[in-house]
Amino acid sequence: MSGSFYSKFIFPYLCELTMSGKSLSTFRLDTLQETSGQVLEIGFGTGLNLPHYPDSVYEIDAVDVNPQMHHLAQKRIANSKIIVTNYVLSGEQLPMDDASYDYVTCTFTLCSIPDVKQALSEINRVLKPGGVFVFLEHGLSDVKSVQTWQHRLNPLQKRIGDGCHLNRKIDDLVQDSSFVLTSLNRFQLPSVPRFLGHCYQGIATKSQSKV
Ligand SMILES: C[S@@+](CC[C@H](N)C(=O)[O-])C[C@H]1O[C@@H](n2cnc3c(N)ncnc32)[C@H](O)[C@@H]1O
Repeated sequence: MSGSFYSKFIFPYLCELTMSGKSLSTFRLDTLQETSGQVLEIGFGTGLNLPHYPDSVYEIDAVDVNPQMHHLAQKRIANSKIIVTNYVLSGEQLPMDDASYDYVTCTFTLCSIPDVKQALSEINRVLKPGGVFVFLEHGLSDVKSVQTWQHRLNPLQKRIGDGCHLNRKIDDLVQDSSFVLTSLNRFQLPSVPRFLGHCYQGIATKSQSKV
């Protein structure tokens, strides 16, 4: 749906409205606290993570495929001490050199990238040796009855959420992309329907065996 009227003029505002809640802020802060140095954020959206990075982060390259998201993020960028460079492009094909970043971060975005395996491979490529991928994502529940609804509602969610899938198993996707998962926390977001609020919060390091 990228480039459609909905993507340009409705979804960015819907995203800002639904993703800017207080409880999500707590999880964002908790997820990003470990980051430092040179950071790449995939799916920067309206910049909701920006106030939650620690002082040890001084520069962020912000990738998002939707230009209107970058537009809405400008006020947050202006109010931040962090130097942010916007890139309007897909996480599936990054122009950055190999081994450029200490950290790559991603929140509530792996659900939406069409070729998510390709994006994870790119994230792996641009991380420095020993670099860290930090993520907070929603995805497939481990409760069978919830999974059934996630599969059923997926086509509808893809339309409402501008390509968002309800049923991706995020930990498997990360581990299948030459990452070593060093930490994983799975939990249900409070006050969010179970089909939508099953979260994966994790830290993964670039596997040394990747060629
Ligand atoms: C639900 S929003 C989350 C935004 C932000 N990460 C947050 O936590 O508030 C998903 C974001 O992923 C972006 N996105 C979708 N497909 C993408 C792709 N292929 N490459 C980069 N960003 C993408 C969307 O434009 C949108 O900004």
